[in-house]
Amino acid sequence: MLDQYARKIEYVRISLTDRCNLRCRYCMPEDGIVKMQRADMLTFAEILRVVRALAALGVKKVRLTGGEPLVRRNLTELIYALRQISGIEQVALTTNGVLLPTMAEDLLRAGLTGLNISLDTLQAGTFVELARRPLFAQVQAGMEKVLAMGMEQVKFNCVPIYEVNDDEIPALAALAKDYPVKVRFIELMPIGCAYAAGYRGVPMTEVWAQLEKAYGRLCPVGKKGDLLQGPAEYYQLAGFAGQVGFIDALEHQFCAACNRVRITADGFLKLCLNQKNGLNLRKLLRSGISDDNLKWALRQAVYRKPAEHLFRDSKNTAKDSRAMYQVGG
Ligand code: 5AD
Ligand code: SF4
Repeated sequence: MLDQYARKIEYVRISLTDRCNLRCRYCMPEDGIVKMQRADMLTFAEILRVVRALAALGVKKVRLTGGEPLVRRNLTELIYALRQISGIEQVALTTNGVLLPTMAEDLLRAGLTGLNISLDTLQAGTFVELARRPLFAQVQAGMEKVLAMGMEQVKFNCVPIYEVNDDEIPALAALAKDYPVKVRFIELMPIGCAYAAGYRGVPMTEVWAQLEKAYGRLCPVGKKGDLLQGPAEYYQLAGFAGQVGFIDALEHQFCAACNRVRITADGFLKLCLNQKNGLNLRKLLRSGISDDNLKWALRQAVYRKPAEHLFRDSKNTAKDSRAMYQVGG
């Protein structure tokens, strides 16, 4: 499926819930959150129907996000069913890791092909300060379990923030030294409460400099082969089993190669992370739309995907007011 700029859309990110068992200060306020009504969340049957339609239009990869997707009940059943859909080659998930100690094995058994774990710190004290919940031991146990299981595509995502975890960048990257995983640094984006909470993200140029100082020259890894890879640029360091990556959201424009759309837990097809344009799929699904018309509506909506995220345009009138926990990154 192509959009109006001839970008090939092959990847859908589906948020399964806006609930989360953490309250990371740059993502979710402690109080005053208006939670989505459960009745408004797409059921698994509705999600599967949309993914079948998208797969028929050329989508090959699904990523499940949240909030925290592991808090959605019977999740493994959904993963298993997604893996049965013809055309879907990858089913991945992004988690904060808290529930991995009990769920990692079931996820793998259900057929999950990739796991991204959000990991901003390796220190229990910083974790509780940032995520407002004393659950670092669970995350650590979950990580250890996943690394021991030998799952193929494991990535760690870290958002470096001044005076929070800016002193841990080489230590976080060291996970890729010891294990064949990708450690990715993501620039803090002006979404939700991130900037209002007073945080300043460490620019990727500085993260880069810290890593070169600690580990030597970063050698770019070619992107060929995996077109589903996304906006990260990956690098190899001497003696590392894995790789480090950078998602330079504000500075560098990766929008020209964007291959994705998103679906919120309440069934809104979002065409760009930072813009509100899209399609209310829940309404269509619950009004008894036919499969053919659903495909047609998806194709029409995706065609109108905006050219770029406009993070740097303060006058962007199409900016979405949804927070990260309502979109899933
Ligand atoms: N900018 C960048 N990343 C963010 N995340 C949450 N809020 C932001 C933000 N404003 C990240 C989390 C998690 C992923 C789902 O999104 O750290 O890794
Ligand atoms: Fe933290 Fe992710 Fe939960 Fe937001 S959704 S509070 S970033 S764990």
